[in-house]
Amino acid sequence: VNSSAPDGFVQVQGLVPAQVEDGQLYAAALPNGTRLCVGRHDGTWFATKDSCPHSEFPLSEGTLYPNGELECSWHGARFHCLSGAVLRGPAEDPLVRFDVQVIDGALWVKRVAGVTASGGGR
Ligand code: FES
Repeated sequence: VNSSAPDGFVQVQGLVPAQVEDGQLYAAALPNGTRLCVGRHDGTWFATKDSCPHSEFPLSEGTLYPNGELECSWHGARFHCLSGAVLRGPAEDPLVRFDVQVIDGALWVKRVAGVTASGGGR
């Protein structure tokens, strides 16, 4: 374990940052098994839960457009990959996002504390 990790960050499993290409989506996971959708848009890393807020389809199987819009390939909901904001329904809740840091060639993330959307259910 890399002790230089910043407070609260955990190392992402199953993804080598050096192999990530801008504009692509990747599936990865946290040590506790939580699945992540990770990517880079215009050089900026992002990570979200790999689960669409609409009906839990894996976002890593969706599409990342050059303008930063991330589309779920089940019902076509769109989010901004960096802000997590909903740009198009049927999803109503924003993405569950993580802050990302790349340290010594490894990827670390920390859940972004913020508004916990509730009431959407499954
Ligand atoms: S599960 Fe993603 S749009 Fe429905």
